[in-house]
Parts: sequence; structure tokens; C-alpha cells
Amino acid sequence: MPVGGKATAARRNRPGARSLELESLAGGGPPAPRTPTGLAEFDRVLGGGLVRGGAVLLGGDPGIGKSTLLLQALGAVAKSGREVIYVSGEEGADQIRDRADRLGLADAPLLLATATSTDAAAATIVNTPNLALIAIDSIQTMYVEGVESAPGSVAQVRASAQLLIAAAKRAGASLLLVGHVTKDGAIAGPRVLEHMVDAVLYFEGDTSQHYRILRAVKNRFGPADSLGVFEMTGLGLAEVPNPSALFVGEREGREPVTGSAVFAGFRGARPLLVEVQALVGAPGPASPRRAVVGWDSARLAMTLAVLETRAGLPFSGRDVFLSVAGGLRIDEPAADLAAAAALASALLERPTPKDCVFYGELALSGEVRPAPQADARLKEAERLGFSRAAAPGDTKMKGVKVETIKRVDDLVTLLAAQPLLRAPKPADWPDDES
Ligand code: TYD
Ligand code: MG
Repeated sequence: MPVGGKATAARRNRPGARSLELESLAGGGPPAPRTPTGLAEFDRVLGGGLVRGGAVLLGGDPGIGKSTLLLQALGAVAKSGREVIYVSGEEGADQIRDRADRLGLADAPLLLATATSTDAAAATIVNTPNLALIAIDSIQTMYVEGVESAPGSVAQVRASAQLLIAAAKRAGASLLLVGHVTKDGAIAGPRVLEHMVDAVLYFEGDTSQHYRILRAVKNRFGPADSLGVFEMTGLGLAEVPNPSALFVGEREGREPVTGSAVFAGFRGARPLLVEVQALVGAPGPASPRRAVVGWDSARLAMTLAVLETRAGLPFSGRDVFLSVAGGLRIDEPAADLAAAAALASALLERPTPKDCVFYGELALSGEVRPAPQADARLKEAERLGFSRAAAPGDTKMKGVKVETIKRVDDLVTLLAAQPLLRAPKPADWPDDES
């Protein structure tokens, strides 16, 4: 039967419906114009600045520094002569002026509104000529007339974002939305907006420490998964141009320790060295604990199983802890070998070589698979003073010697060549040697 033979009425074109406007794939025209924020780390994470007409969501825990980052970026853009508006539904104008003072931005020609009406904000976007950038701090305080629920509810947050995004697109202005990450369900978190905006950035860090990480989890205009690092100082956020140095810590002159390995990793478009730390307990506990911070717990379980089954390292019956230094989270499969090295080093009580980085993906067979962008990883390692890399490939590079690790046994061999480094134990502890 021919398609649409019978019930054609419903399928027939609506009279008067116009065809889609088609364009060629090749003739895309120039890339969307960008507005640099003046903060190099911020711009890098964005993929080269804010896109005109695009919407960016900046999420993070309360108190992490979102408003500070925003004010610094807005101030810099305003100082460059562009039209910039800051709408705050959270703080009074005096509070914001105080902060701007502290940040050295008191004279930035930035326009300020303390308001919570989404309708008024959207009208402002459309009615301000040459508006380059507008920030809404925060989306959870905004309120759309006619939506019958409280500010911060999913319905309000969605409706507000929709209105603002449409207005910004029409005006060709960049829109920055702040969204608090919330633990209780009463307020809608940034997640409900992730699909509506062009880029989602999270600002993270331990508020008890000074370092802050800006991370892109989605970016229609640049690399996702890129990362910027800042330090919170008394004068606002300072950029950290050399984050690898931060995440591997001071190695020169440091006493060797077991259970530590440096991963030559990659974040977004940039190589990044990170220290992975492991602690392995004595055998004994009836239900040994496994805890992991900054890595995937299923991956830890798999790595332990591979080390145990393929290299004979006895992890079962022991507590195992694994942590990524500096509050960072690693998702790359290539981190497997560094995690395995830290774990094996802790168990064997032999430090990994001080001048050596690790990368490679572990297969269940015990083989180690190559990682992409090996050259860039090695280059970053060399730049930070490492002279060896334990990795599966045979990449050659002047300055960094590759210790080929094809299987987990090779890793054990590498560690066995290191000096034994016993952790001091109380005298009355049972000897765990069998
Ligand atoms: P804030 O930007 O208000 O966080 P958020 O908007 O994410 O809730 O920053 C909050 C913290 O930052 C606050 O505890 C004080 C600190 N801070 C500094 O340490 N130095 C500074 O220059 C500024 C402006 C803030
Ligand atoms: Mg704030």
C-alpha cells in the first residue's frame, strides 16, 4: 500500500505552511562575535570570551565567589567601553559598591540594578541600546509576573531564564546567569537550566581553601571540560596561570612518600598535572572500607580488581582510600595508570619515582592502553621538571624518558626497583607479613 494511502487528511500539508529556509553547510559566515571578559582564565573556559546573544550559566555553592567573579568580569568589560548591566536580586547597591571598591572597580562605568522582576530585566535588555553584557545574580531570586509560584521554584526559574535568554538573543547581548547549587529541593538548582543555555560553568572549591576552579561542563561555543583556576585573595580573585604547579604541589626537596603518583592529565584543551594519593590499610577488617574523592568509585573497584588478579597485589581485606589532590575531579580513562601506581605504591610501600609522571588506560586484561595527546602531556611534564613518564606508548621526546608500561606487571617491576619505605608502626601492632 502506498504511504499515506488512506488517512491522508491529517498528514497533508497545512495550507499556507511555508517551507523551511535552507542554507548551505559551507557558507556559515564569520564566527559569532565575542566579548572578552578581561579575565584570561574565564575567557579560556568560555572558549575565547562571551558570545554575543549567547547565555552562560555560572553555577556554584553559595559563598564560593560567583558574585565576585561576575563583578570582576563585568567591571573589566565596562572599562573597555562597552555597555554592561549588573542586576542583583541578592545584595543591596551599597553592598555591591563596597565590593567593587575592594576589587578596585569603583570607577568602572557599570550600570547597576537591584531588582527581582524578570519582566523588567527583560525589558531593560531589549530597550538598552548597544547592550554588550548583562548579568543576573541570581536566577533564583527572579520573578515572572503571572507564574503562580515562588521565586526559586522550578517553574519560576525556568520561566525567568526563558524570558531573559530570548531577550538577550534579540538584543544581541551576552547573558550571564548565576545559579546557586542548592542541596534542599525547595529551590531549583542550575541543573534545570543546563539544557536552555549555551554554556554551563561551575565554580568550585573548598571554601576553607583559597583555590577556586572554574569548569565548563557544557559549551556550545568552545571546548567542554576546560578549566580555569583562581585564588581568592583579599583583593578578589587572582588568576593562577600555572595550575599544574598547584596540583602537584612542591616536589623539590620533599621527602619521598608512598601512595602518591602524578597523573599527566588533560582538561579541555590544556594539559594538567595532578597528584593522585592512595592509602592502603593493613589486612584485617571484616568489612574493609573503600573511599574515593575526586575519582569514580566504580573505576577504583575495577583498578583494584585488575591489580589483584593480573599482578597478584593483595588488596582484598584491606581498607583502601584514594584521593585527587587540590579538590579536583578526574574523569579521564588515562588516569587509571596513575591511580594504579598510587595504589600499588601504597601497598608495596615503595614510592613512585620522584621525577616520573603516569598516564594510560587500564584494560581488564591487565594491559595498559595509550592515551590521546601524549606529546602535550609529556611537554607539560617536562615544563614542570619531570624527566620520566610511565606510559604505554613509545612516544619519543627529548627531555622526558618514557618507561614503557604495557601491562600492570611492568608497573610492579618499576615500583619494585624503588627503595622500601616502611611507615612507622606502633611497636605492639601485629606484623602483617605472612
Ligand atoms: P561571593 O562572590 O559573595 O560568593 P557567591 O556569590 O558565590 O555566594 O564571595 C563570597 C566570599 O568571598 C566571601 O566569603 C568573602 C570572600 N571574598 C574575599 O575573600 N575577597 C574578596 O575580595 C571578596 C570580594 C570576597
Ligand atoms: Mg553572590
